[in-house]
Amino acid sequence: MRHGVIFIVVFFIFSGAKIVLFPEMAKFFYYFSSLFALRFQIKLYFCTTMMNDEKYMRRCFALAENGIYYAAPNPMVGCVIVKDDTIISEGFHQCCGENHAERNAILRIDDKTALKGSTLYVNLEPCSHYGKTPPCADLISQYPFERVVVCNLDPNPLVSGRGIEKISKAGIKVTTGVLEKEGRLLNRRFFTFMEKRRPFVILKWAQTRDGFMDIDRNDDSQKTYWITNQKLKCEVHKWRTQEAAIMVGTQTVVNDDPQLTARLWHGNNPVRVAIDRNGRIPSTAYILDGSCPTIIYTENSEMKCSEKLQYVVVNFDNLLDEILTDLWNRKIQSIIVEGGLRLLNTFIEQQLWDEARVLIGNKMFGKGLKAPSFPFVPNTVEQIDDDFICLYNAPEL
Ligand SMILES: NC(=O)c1ccc[n+]([C@@H]2O[C@H](COP(=O)([O-])OP(=O)(O)OC[C@H]3O[C@@H](n4cnc5c(N)ncnc54)[C@H](OP(=O)(O)O)[C@@H]3O)[C@@H](O)[C@H]2O)c1
Repeated sequence: MRHGVIFIVVFFIFSGAKIVLFPEMAKFFYYFSSLFALRFQIKLYFCTTMMNDEKYMRRCFALAENGIYYAAPNPMVGCVIVKDDTIISEGFHQCCGENHAERNAILRIDDKTALKGSTLYVNLEPCSHYGKTPPCADLISQYPFERVVVCNLDPNPLVSGRGIEKISKAGIKVTTGVLEKEGRLLNRRFFTFMEKRRPFVILKWAQTRDGFMDIDRNDDSQKTYWITNQKLKCEVHKWRTQEAAIMVGTQTVVNDDPQLTARLWHGNNPVRVAIDRNGRIPSTAYILDGSCPTIIYTENSEMKCSEKLQYVVVNFDNLLDEILTDLWNRKIQSIIVEGGLRLLNTFIEQQLWDEARVLIGNKMFGKGLKAPSFPFVPNTVEQIDDDFICLYNAPEL
């Protein structure tokens, strides 16, 4: 704006009155001011384009998020097609094995001539290989898009730049890296799984105001020990439906006999994971009931597997690495670790976590099992009635 005003004043002064008196000088200033105006217009064009790119990319994120329950182990992807600053079609990746976001958005347009001169926005690089569906880069290349705007490149070695290359070779302009950081955060499970070759790890526990995660089990007078309110219980069940697996330590199974299912929220149950080095878990435990896929890591090679219950023998000297590698091989993209103390501490000490969700209930135990000491500052704190949810991202996220 300021540049515009200066330009008009300069232009008026030098192309008007002075032109009669100093024609040579006027000519110089005329060219100078024209160049200046051109620079200003180019800058304005890029600013508007950048703002629009970000606006439509945010719409892609919003669409992509609809895939949170069923897209995994694929990433969450949304796509919008824009012409003359108007969205003419949208799509998202709904379920692993089904159409990708770009295909859904393109298929929704009956008259494909409408695609001429349009821009396709998508938050992950279009795929270039045959998976469960044909390559999206080939599909996009068939149509007269003017531009394709991408947020993140696909870290999958089968794609990794090849999708963009195919589209560029078809003569379509490609812009990458729009809201890259936000895109990585949206698909943090997918990026961690691809880049670190392990599932995305979420630690979760509940603690009282005075910092205890369990009562003193030797004390008969402390019978009620539920820490948080009903709304937080629902929230936790919702979280369970969003992750591929859920894990607890042996002592938690022995003491609490948790079901580890999502009963208060609609969605998939995660794969249940526990440790049982020497077969201490009683055969009556819910976790062994065969109602959901369950994996127990053990040293005991005599444990009997069944259809939904698998015992996997691992080396306990290198326990977490062995478990996370095994889960990675099973394409389990994320895991929520729900305690107890020793298991959580093992993840914290080995810095094998990406996110932590600490629920603080409005209770005081006075004594009992101390919650993990966790010297980090929460990224967000949310209050729900009298309880709090503190969310932490691991330092490098
Ligand atoms: N407030 C909450 O959010 C919350 C959540 C869950 C649990 N809890 C409470 O926490 C209590 C249990 O906690 P806890 O610390 O005693 O036990 P835990 O972490 O649930 O289980 C620990 C046990 O797992 C096995 N284990 C073997 N190697 C391990 C390793 N490297 N890392 C971790 N575990 C390994 C060991 O069993 P072996 O001795 O058989 O080898 C160990 O004793 C329960 O009473 C429960 O109520 C609270």
